Amino acid sequence: MIKLEKIRKAYKADDELIPVLRNIDLEVHKGDFLAIMGPSGSGKSTLLNLIGFIDRNYSGNYYLEDEIVTSKADNDLSKLRNQRVGFIFQHFNLIETMMIRENIELPLLYDGWNYRQTKERVAELLEKLGIGDKGNKLPRQLSGGQQQRAAIARAIINNPDFIIADEPTGALDTQTSADIMNIFKQLNEEEGVTIILVTHDPETVRFCNRVIHMHDGVLTEEVR
Ligand SMILES: Nc1ncnc2c1ncn2[C@@H]1O[C@H](COP(=O)(O)OP(=O)(O)O)[C@@H](O)[C@H]1O
Ligand SMILES: [Mg+2]
Repeated sequence: MIKLEKIRKAYKADDELIPVLRNIDLEVHKGDFLAIMGPSGSGKSTLLNLIGFIDRNYSGNYYLEDEIVTSKADNDLSKLRNQRVGFIFQHFNLIETMMIRENIELPLLYDGWNYRQTKERVAELLEKLGIGDKGNKLPRQLSGGQQQRAAIARAIINNPDFIIADEPTGALDTQTSADIMNIFKQLNEEEGVTIILVTHDPETVRFCNRVIHMHDGVLTEEVR
């Protein structure tokens, strides 16, 4: 599904180029549930942004199915981002001034859905994620775990092929983390959603079927 070939990226600091990704080769297959682990600053978020079509400033080749992503125009890349991938973050990144329901509606409204279909789809998803009664609340009125459920609803409302989650349980307690990981597991097993997540937590890794370690911009896969 995803194939990265010899990906390199560097950031400029003062007059120096600091390499962040060094010759990354990675294949992600449909249905993978993949964990990326590694120390802070090793390049994990940089790699996720590139896989999620946020960053296009790198060298090497990125293929999605058999299409080459690297040479796409900006608006084609935005389209891929809206249609193919759902993002989840450590701090949920919900819009604080909007109700939960409105936060989740956003991707559909961008996509041109009508009002009634949107309402139905959002209600169904909130119910499925166990926060059916929270649609009319503001993010700050929810617990961390409930906010992460809302963020998952927002990420999957467009039926993406894959989810990118950057330390999704990093701000949650152990039990809530396990609940969130079980939601990912269910999406992966029952709906075939491919999941790529960054984590520091060995408990979280147990849910995944591949583990990759990142050190100084280099990947090594764990043989299990
Ligand atoms: N926009 C940026 N400009 C300059 N340096 C950056 C930028 N983003 C990240 N970096 C640097 O790149 C390295 C990798 O960062 P990051 O991908 O966020 O690592 P991780 O997610 O593994 O903690 C770090 O040294 C970080 O300081
Ligand atoms: Mg990071």
